[in-house]
Amino acid sequence: MMLHIPEILSKAEVAEFRLLLAQSNWTDGRATVGEQGAQVKRNRQLPVDSPLARQLGEIILQRLYQHPLFLAAAIPHRSVPPLFNSYAGGEHYGLHVDGAIRLLPGSNLSLRTDVSSTLFLSEPEEYVGGELQVLDTYGAHEVKLPAGDLILYPSTSLHQVLPVTEGERVCSFFWTQSLVKDDAKRAMLFELDSSIQSLRGKIGDAPEVLSLTGHYHNLLRQWADL
Ligand code: NI
Repeated sequence: MMLHIPEILSKAEVAEFRLLLAQSNWTDGRATVGEQGAQVKRNRQLPVDSPLARQLGEIILQRLYQHPLFLAAAIPHRSVPPLFNSYAGGEHYGLHVDGAIRLLPGSNLSLRTDVSSTLFLSEPEEYVGGELQVLDTYGAHEVKLPAGDLILYPSTSLHQVLPVTEGERVCSFFWTQSLVKDDAKRAMLFELDSSIQSLRGKIGDAPEVLSLTGHYHNLLRQWADL
């Protein structure tokens, strides 16, 4: 399931992030991928241990872990600290699949990547190209969102970032281990949850709504791994 979550950051916050990011040292993005990824990845990133990446990343995760749509769609267990990347001058990241397991920096804990997130920090009109293209059984989906908006997509999918031929595309990205590993099950839970919320708005906590809520939690109990 892919989901667009608008306005994770306000335009003023995006401007502040961009100002701070513009003053930092960017390094070769190939530092955080394996050999296969390195052959197709051409961009720049903030180093994983960059204090600025940590600081801005914490703001993003704090925001998301309080966001009803993110919680409902990702059913997050834990996330890696967000990274930041920049594409310009024809840079791109060819078709690839993200590694299944990531080590949490500064620890010996690892995380399974179930849900990928990209938070756009450049406005679409600031650059040409740079679409995030995600492939699934329905075809290729191209994503280019307003600054401050986020796209969620399954980490199991093949995806690429098309070449940025003009301007600069700055984004933050990170992975989340979900309590529900399977994308199809997460999508079903999300739809059920959304329908329950909508019904509650129309008819309140009628017995049928309570029964469906119980059904949601019992499914989650069956499917969650902790
Ligand atoms: Ni990727």
